[in-house]
Amino acid sequence: MTRFKYVRNSWYVAGFSHEFGKGKLQRHEIAREPVVIWRTDSGRVVAFDNRCVHKRMPLSEGKLLEDGSLQCSYHGLRYNDQGRCVAIPSQPDGAIPARARLKAFPVIEQDGLVWIWPGEAEKADKVRPPRTPEITDDSWESIGSEPMRIAANYLLLIENLLDISHFYPLHDGNIGDLANSRIPVELIEGEQDGSRFVKTIREARDYKQPPFLADWFVYDIVDRHHSHCLTGPGLTRVEMRVAPPGKLGSDADRGYILFHTHTPIDEKSHVWRWCVNCKADHMSKGDPSKSAAKRVAEMFPAVVEEDRWALEKQQEMFAYPDENYTELYLKPDKATRLARRLLLSLERQDLEPKRAPAAVD
Ligand code: FES
Ligand SMILES: [Fe+2]
Repeated sequence: MTRFKYVRNSWYVAGFSHEFGKGKLQRHEIAREPVVIWRTDSGRVVAFDNRCVHKRMPLSEGKLLEDGSLQCSYHGLRYNDQGRCVAIPSQPDGAIPARARLKAFPVIEQDGLVWIWPGEAEKADKVRPPRTPEITDDSWESIGSEPMRIAANYLLLIENLLDISHFYPLHDGNIGDLANSRIPVELIEGEQDGSRFVKTIREARDYKQPPFLADWFVYDIVDRHHSHCLTGPGLTRVEMRVAPPGKLGSDADRGYILFHTHTPIDEKSHVWRWCVNCKADHMSKGDPSKSAAKRVAEMFPAVVEEDRWALEKQQEMFAYPDENYTELYLKPDKATRLARRLLLSLERQDLEPKRAPAAVD
């Protein structure tokens, strides 16, 4: 593993929109920033440094009052939804110092996801979070996972997602097999909405679907289009389309769009969420009473557990000194090398000289 820690100047998913009910304080840690997040009465999601300006009490332990202000649980300093301190109970007649305000983190709520920028706020304007329109489109059924805390650097998950040669043996017998690991890969790099991306495309003909895929996507033998797109460091979009041989691109298409969000907590852990999207009228073959999306959502966690196990075991081994080791690169590792290069270059950009922080009003 490289010395990569995490990229700070990037959009990361803090959760699905539905996770942010009004009046509920949430404690997060994103790229080593302690963050308190809540949805205001007007429906806007706001995010601030989770440390009270007074004695560093976590504000997520406080409460939201009727007037919408956040009261610290220790000495009661109150903050409005701009992060400005508006009351100090122990000195009701005193002036409130101008510096009694919280650092605000840029937030964008888009396509059913809440994104946060843990880095320097003034750099956030140049980049938009990647789009995930299927999550809020009624012609798709969309089911998201709970947040999973993974004891591994998020680059390990990104590499896992872009390199499906691990489907054998790690996922052998559910979504993978050896033939899958040998499908040639095409690579595309580019930029969208200010974010660089790395995309892999794998095309297969007359491919025998492994058991889970035949259960979800009906056919036994298929032509398949399978792509994985890492956009910025925060999201990987997986697209799988299958159809009987010669029918790909017709009404016979089945498959899914799978979003994986990977949000670093620190250099050794991250939060992983997945979200499966299937056409709303597609039913599964394994249980014809269930939609394809519901069937994937109930079976996919077994696959995810295999990945979690591998990522955490892999991370454990990085604790040992390993000076004489040089990574052995195989042909299918091309995409993971590009992804790693992308993340390392973004991490280097984090270290470029900072400008003065933007005022928040
Ligand atoms: S620590 Fe928050 S009011 Fe004192
Ligand atoms: Fe996997």
